[in-house]
Amino acid sequence: MPMTTSWHRLAHPDSELDRICGSMKRPRLEASQITRELEELHDVAAEFALERDTLPPTAPAGRTGATDAATVRTASMLTRPEREHVIRALRVGEAHEEIWYVTDTNGHRRYLHQLIAFEISTFEACSRHIAEFASMPWRFHYDVAGQIRDELRHLEMWLERLPHTGGRLGEWPLSAHEYAVCAGHDVPCRIGLLERLVEASALDSLDLHRCLWETRGDQVMTAYLARVQVDEIGHVRLGNHWLRRLCADDAEIERLVTRAESAAREHALAAARALERAGLVPPGNAELVRRKFDDPLALAVDTTARTRAGFTAAEIAVEADRRRHAARQEVAT
Ligand SMILES: [Fe+2]
Ligand SMILES: [Fe+2]
Repeated sequence: MPMTTSWHRLAHPDSELDRICGSMKRPRLEASQITRELEELHDVAAEFALERDTLPPTAPAGRTGATDAATVRTASMLTRPEREHVIRALRVGEAHEEIWYVTDTNGHRRYLHQLIAFEISTFEACSRHIAEFASMPWRFHYDVAGQIRDELRHLEMWLERLPHTGGRLGEWPLSAHEYAVCAGHDVPCRIGLLERLVEASALDSLDLHRCLWETRGDQVMTAYLARVQVDEIGHVRLGNHWLRRLCADDAEIERLVTRAESAAREHALAAARALERAGLVPPGNAELVRRKFDDPLALAVDTTARTRAGFTAAEIAVEADRRRHAARQEVAT
């Protein structure tokens, strides 16, 4: 029986839904078909040589593998996401350059994989916001759970698009950048890094992405990005709201975010260099990790989106200044 999932309606609240999304209606998968697809994904996962880097530690004597896996999953300071075999096996740092200007179908598939990785990493990081900080107020957990719901909805959108490009999940490795950036930090630093820094940078690029897909005449990608843009403004606003509750004043937020970013950057670069030295990732991995931090600084600040997301005029001016400074350094090197 044909089905249309509920997020289609959320993504397209107007009556244009059927016209835009008609092609998305597809028959419900049979259990045997799902099993077959999972087996295929396992085959793809096995092709990635770096899987050994992501396997959980061996269970100590006297403990079952299941008990050990549960302990790992619920540890208070996970440094990497505990993913299902297929997804976890695809995590290989930043082994591939990011793609933002799509010119062909192959590029579209890689672009979708980047978005898929972003959504997965983000809702995993948000899940740890809740799991590791049970003593935060109920309202915080409620807000973050709402963000997880949104990120899952975004993930469904990109997964829905993938078959239309002839692609399938697993063709390209998935980065865990957003998760790794947050790991090991306390709750204000996590919010500072994920919602205030990484997601706010995404806000600066979303309008450009939406316009590019509009120019390409892809109505579905344009509609999905418009939906994501609305949600992301909400996520950054949520981050700003909680930072203002947790910090004494705006100056403290600024210091906290700067300090957290520098620590996360240093840690990520050191880890990438170690992976390179150990031969676990191709040469150039550390440079790709550096660009993951630095490339967003080449974007112009989207003042309108940031204002709606709860940044003050002074904070927007500081961010614009930071980018001018980064651009000058880039020219000088
Ligand atoms: Fe998202
Ligand atoms: Fe988000």
